[in-house]
Amino acid sequence: SQRKKIIAANWKMYKDLAESNDFFTFFIENLQDTKAEILIAPSFTNLWHAFDATREYPIEIVAQNMHESEEGAFTGEVSAKMLKSIGIERVILGHSERREYFAETDRILSEKVRTALANEIKIIFCIGEKLEDRKDGDHFKLVESQLRNGLFHLNAKQWESVVIAYEPVWAIGTGETASPEQAQEMHQFIRKTIADKYSNEVSDNVSILYGGSVKPANAKDLFAQPDIDGALVGGASLEVESFIDIISAL
Ligand code: G3H
Repeated sequence: SQRKKIIAANWKMYKDLAESNDFFTFFIENLQDTKAEILIAPSFTNLWHAFDATREYPIEIVAQNMHESEEGAFTGEVSAKMLKSIGIERVILGHSERREYFAETDRILSEKVRTALANEIKIIFCIGEKLEDRKDGDHFKLVESQLRNGLFHLNAKQWESVVIAYEPVWAIGTGETASPEQAQEMHQFIRKTIADKYSNEVSDNVSILYGGSVKPANAKDLFAQPDIDGALVGGASLEVESFIDIISAL
């Protein structure tokens, strides 16, 4: 399979311009050779500067969100075209915080996916169950419906622009990580669901990242799983040294 190893940082609503600058100064000086693609998603206000600061390095700057419309009277929102115009070519969509706090439904997300790809912006699409889903034994069903509703309108070719991030909501920012076995089980299920809908070729080539309290201490065991192709890191990506240690674990 040709799928890529990826370590992605999601800074969420952390780091102002000076803090972002400090991170990149240290990060660029200390980054070792790695087989991973490195992605970093700062806030909108830091995007241009981060893009500019990293343009000569193998670091891709990614947006955390975008609006589903091409343009319009949507105060406070950012469009695909605006992102493209400063060099951004990838966006995180469907993060559980967007679903939960900003009421992003499967329907809105499928529109965002459509708009991103129509503008040649690749996506990191986040899916994952809540604790109550897992307790009820509904986690596979829930993840399958997020995949189906968010992404199954795409054609096989468009999947070349998709990375999946499996983030069980109960493991995000809680310090509680899914065990490598739990994560692998779900990643394998996600890959099979894609294979059943499309083909083995499509599903073999999709990178599936794990997210949820990834840290230097647990990264190696997660990355050792055959269907885990990297991580989407929140809290531990804010500290530049721990982010570098996670990259080294791949
Ligand atoms: O997008 C990243 C995830 O929400 C994980 O966040 O590493 O702080 O648990 P966390």
